[in-house]
Amino acid sequence: MGFSLTDVISICDFSKKDIDFVLEKAAELEKTPKEKKSRILEGKIIASLFFEPSTRTRLSFETAIQSLGGKVIGFADPAVSSASKGETLSDSIRIISGYADIIVMRHFIEGSARRAAEVVKKPVINAGDGANQHPTQTLLDLYTIKKEFGKISGLKIGLLGDLKYGRTVHSLMYALAHYPNAEVFCISPESLRMPQEIIQANSGKLKIVETRDLQEFLPELDLLYATRIQKERFVDEFEYEQIKNIFVLGKQVLEKTKKGFRIMHPLPRVNEIKPELDSTEAALYFEQARNGLPVREALLSIMKDVEK
Ligand code: NCD
Repeated sequence: MGFSLTDVISICDFSKKDIDFVLEKAAELEKTPKEKKSRILEGKIIASLFFEPSTRTRLSFETAIQSLGGKVIGFADPAVSSASKGETLSDSIRIISGYADIIVMRHFIEGSARRAAEVVKKPVINAGDGANQHPTQTLLDLYTIKKEFGKISGLKIGLLGDLKYGRTVHSLMYALAHYPNAEVFCISPESLRMPQEIIQANSGKLKIVETRDLQEFLPELDLLYATRIQKERFVDEFEYEQIKNIFVLGKQVLEKTKKGFRIMHPLPRVNEIKPELDSTEAALYFEQARNGLPVREALLSIMKDVEK
């Protein structure tokens, strides 16, 4: 098989071959008739454990499980699990791995998915661990870019907003480093810059520009990936209030951009993108959310055969 991983924890674990394998599988599943797809996870039980809020990620995973004929167990609110009684994550995961064939989990602690993967024999898929990583979002982001632009190499991509706490942009940076000549413009306020270890880890492979000024680089960009300021990760609410509307994209952005320019956003948006952009050609974010389905179907169908 062309896939080397036994868990999906960090995009840094993926080789280019692993990424391509998932994207090709997703494209194949998009063309597979419903009846045929619905036998892929027949007889399998998948645990969907969300210790942190989610709409798209959880529902697209659960839809993917159902459309492949699998069954879901789990929770969307940790208050209803034994975590609220003080059970450790390791204990919860160990117990659940006795019931389920694959574990999909989101947790607010960085490194939690890795820890879970170490204690169980079933494959674990990280659906977001704190401000750290969100590998499945990155795979659907790459799938969306490839589908829209026909390529990833050579594109000029702006990452906008909360680059400090935004796990989607952390994972995306590492992934883009696999694509020759991709250029990344990290656009954020000073206090929300991309962590320096991520810049350093990728600067040999990617051309990276760090800036506070969106206007200066906007005309060069093929794609602008906007993100939400991650309110829940701020220690100081006042600091969040000061910064929350620092970048708001409206229709006037399109006066400056080149032909074929597109906007992506992992969603949910707060104020980053005005609804007036939704009906323009540049808006790729709803299509991006839809692509979560084939990509998560692909991951599940690959992980069902994993032996640890
Ligand atoms: C993102 C996340 O959870 O990190 N959402 C998502 O999975 N689509 C982005 C965010 O919450 O801002």
